[in-house]
Amino acid sequence: LQRVRVRLRARPSNYEIKVGASLLDQLGAQSRQSLDPRARSIALISNPKVFKLYGERARESLRREGFSVKHWLMPDGESHKSLGTLEGALEFLSRCRLERSDAVVALGGGVVGDLAGFAAAVYLRGIAFIQAPTTLLAQIDASVGGKTAVNTAAGKNLIGAFHQPRAVLIDTDTLQTLPRRELTAGWCEAVKQGAAGSRKLFDQTCAFLSSPSAVERASSSTRIERLIAAHCAFKAGIVAGDEQESLARLDHRSRRILNFGHTVAHALESVTNYRRFRHGEAVGQGMLVAGEISKRLGMLDASELELLREAVSSTGRLPRADDLDQAAIRAALTHDKKSIGGQLKWVLLERIGRAVIVDGREITERLLRASLRAGLRQ
Ligand SMILES: NC(=O)c1ccc[n+]([C@@H]2O[C@H](COP(=O)([O-])OP(=O)(O)OC[C@H]3O[C@@H](n4cnc5c(N)ncnc54)[C@H](O)[C@@H]3O)[C@@H](O)[C@H]2O)c1
Repeated sequence: LQRVRVRLRARPSNYEIKVGASLLDQLGAQSRQSLDPRARSIALISNPKVFKLYGERARESLRREGFSVKHWLMPDGESHKSLGTLEGALEFLSRCRLERSDAVVALGGGVVGDLAGFAAAVYLRGIAFIQAPTTLLAQIDASVGGKTAVNTAAGKNLIGAFHQPRAVLIDTDTLQTLPRRELTAGWCEAVKQGAAGSRKLFDQTCAFLSSPSAVERASSSTRIERLIAAHCAFKAGIVAGDEQESLARLDHRSRRILNFGHTVAHALESVTNYRRFRHGEAVGQGMLVAGEISKRLGMLDASELELLREAVSSTGRLPRADDLDQAAIRAALTHDKKSIGGQLKWVLLERIGRAVIVDGREITERLLRASLRAGLRQ
């Protein structure tokens, strides 16, 4: 069992992340420990696929600790991380008659976690919630840091809130049922975290990915526990220093460095109508373009870029991106919601483990074209 302590400036928001095998059976005990002693009811939010696999165990564990448990299943998929689904979730919380001392538990991937977390953030102006993430991406990234959101027609995650969980319980056994593409997408985000902020984490991730057995990658070995815990600790460290992603921060420890690869990823997702790529897969492609830009600006050594390429390719096969209309990708880049005052900020690399934030005006159209061509080649 691995433990990671998340220390935020406001002391009551500190919480613990636990990573280990069979932890779902401890969901009840963990909730008892993390919640207000008066907590009686738990509203469990999941989706049909995840609930069928793990819902009964989660419910059982909560009931053993004396909680009254009601569950509600949102439809599966990113397109349901919407205001309409949020309304359904809030109606469910009202029907449960949750009180201020009660809690929401999110059981699922990042979609369930983001939506359930947002519902908990706004219901009664904020009630406790606990994350039980079941995808690799949610375990190393989405469940840590307190960002919650839903999408609108105008873009992803446009409506949301910062709302920290009371605890994050990561049962690594759940990865055994995760489809291969979801694992690849998660590994791409893992490579991103290391590349943007920690050479040690990058090396640890690459060493794990280079081990021959694909089965082992999804197993509940202590090696994966340690790796997931290292990723949580890394992300928690960044979040603790910049909880709300301050606009003023442009340094190499600002929360914004976690957007490495995301500028191009969002453009790729948008030009393919969110149908071709899992988000993490698009981040894999996006990191290669950002790496090319960094190299062409004279910031990143070619050998470091090669390491990044190898790391991305070790995550698995990514959907192709070299057949897409480059003009459409460039047009989509100009609509990036992370731009400030109309200007895109690129997260680039000085070396593996150290990101820099660069104003979009420093990247010429010619350099961008060349980097897209080179970065997106198969
Ligand atoms: N809050 C944050 O800081 C943050 C960070 C990164 C991403 N996100 C968000 O996370 C979302 C993506 O999350 P995701 O990649 O987990 O996708 P997801 O939640 O859609 O899960 C992917 C698929 O795997 C299924 N699934 C989940 N667990 C499973 C399991 N153990 N076995 C079998 N199938 C399982 C899901 O039902 C779904 O079909 C996006 O909406 C993104 O915006 C949030």
